[in-house]
Amino acid sequence: MKNDLDLASVVLAAGLGTRMKSPTPKVLHRIYGKPIIKYVLDSVKPLRLKKNIVVVGPDNKKIINALTGYDAVFAVQRIPKGTGDALKIAARLLKGFNGTVLVLNGDTPLITAAMLRRLIRIHKNSAEDISMISFIANGAHSYGRVVRDNNRVKAVIEDRDADREQRKIKEVNSGIYAMRSEVLKLLGGIKINVQKGEYYLTDIIGIAVKKGFKVGSHILGKEAELAGVNSREDLYLASQYMKERILRKWSERGVFFIDKSSVFIGSEVEIGIDTILYPNVHIEGKTSIGSKCVIYPNTRIADSRIEDNVTVKDSTLIESSVIKEGASIGPFAHLRPGSVIGRSTRIGNFVEIKKSVIGDGTKAQHISYLGDAVIGDNVNIGAGTITCNYDGREKHKTSIGDNVFIGSDSQLVAPVRVGENAYVGAGSTITMDVPSNALAVSRAAQRNIPDWTLKRFKQGINKGRGEDKLRKGKNEGG
Ligand code: UD1
Ligand code: CA
Repeated sequence: MKNDLDLASVVLAAGLGTRMKSPTPKVLHRIYGKPIIKYVLDSVKPLRLKKNIVVVGPDNKKIINALTGYDAVFAVQRIPKGTGDALKIAARLLKGFNGTVLVLNGDTPLITAAMLRRLIRIHKNSAEDISMISFIANGAHSYGRVVRDNNRVKAVIEDRDADREQRKIKEVNSGIYAMRSEVLKLLGGIKINVQKGEYYLTDIIGIAVKKGFKVGSHILGKEAELAGVNSREDLYLASQYMKERILRKWSERGVFFIDKSSVFIGSEVEIGIDTILYPNVHIEGKTSIGSKCVIYPNTRIADSRIEDNVTVKDSTLIESSVIKEGASIGPFAHLRPGSVIGRSTRIGNFVEIKKSVIGDGTKAQHISYLGDAVIGDNVNIGAGTITCNYDGREKHKTSIGDNVFIGSDSQLVAPVRVGENAYVGAGSTITMDVPSNALAVSRAAQRNIPDWTLKRFKQGINKGRGEDKLRKGKNEGG
């Protein structure tokens, strides 16, 4: 009785995927940043599996690498001779296993754990030997048709082998099955389909029925949730459906999207309650966004951590960075990888930051480049400040202490340190360390030459440049 509860899964992912017209294995094409096969494996993950087998093909290294971190064993199908052959190869790893084998095509990314649980429940309660998930397909498609005789499943006939009457059948095979492990013995009985040169797994249905096994087909979902991805068009449609699913989930959890149609939220993104996303915001990779944040339009955030109450203003790019509570970034800011922005810090227009740690309450509001820098709390970075971190060969560090004031249009030639509470006069080129509490100024002293313009005018040099105004000004004045 206990053995009856044992569960193993087999994900078929060795097909060539020729219809994708791509050198990348089909199951590694991405939907919202995540490869198709990971969605399938994530759907079986919550089920208590004794074994999780993935059948991979000639490109197996790429798939195995992509699946690091997954608790899976790989069966290699060197020549893709069809889904029947793929399962036969996996079955070698199931010798001695006694229980339910869940078989899934690796190209059905929208399948969920909830639907698989329903299939397993039906499979057990009905005491079927094979239970498959089917759906109603409308429009043109190439799914295998579920052929019934007096309502009883008789066979699955592939599209290319179906006759005119069978083609009209709307109930089709999803490629997801629950089987008693005993049924795997029948795989040897599948004959090659001569035209295709493949062993069809779907032939097992007809074979099982003929041998008196109990087979059931169950419509457990809609086409959109069960569609297989064979082409770029299928990938697009699956992405659209996945997008709706992701956005609905975050809406339900208290996130507001002003325009869902133009927002892109990756499948591994987390967003806190009361956060608002404006149109054309793309959040990718392993990004988390806190609560009560506002992300304004045309912004892309990848692999970053954004804490609570952060404002990201229009047209900002943030990559692999951390933004702490209450900070404000943008508009038109670029945070390159390795940037850490402190609490309530303000990063403004046309500021580029790379691999720099910036303290709390600091301001860099206009047109700056800060790279390889460590900047303290409550620092003011004037407009046009540049850390000159690169000498043509190596990168060097700039360190700026707490409460420092860097005047506008200053260059800090790294390696250089500015001690806390120090001031740097506007327009300075700082090449030496500045001690704490000091003022550093490095610019030519200003010299004023009185009436210089008038003299040139008298010499006839300034002709045409404000001559009239000068005459007028002179007349008025005199
Ligand atoms: C398959 C089913 C079809 C069903 C449809 C649902 C068969 C013969 N047909 O058709 O009834 O309606 O899925 O989406 O099973 N694969 C291997 N090794 C191979 C060939 C394929 O591992 O030699 C893998 C593929 O990587 C893919 C899955 O099996 O993930 C299904 O193969 P695919 O060629 O996409 O089958 P379909 O023609 O879509
Ligand atoms: Ca398919």
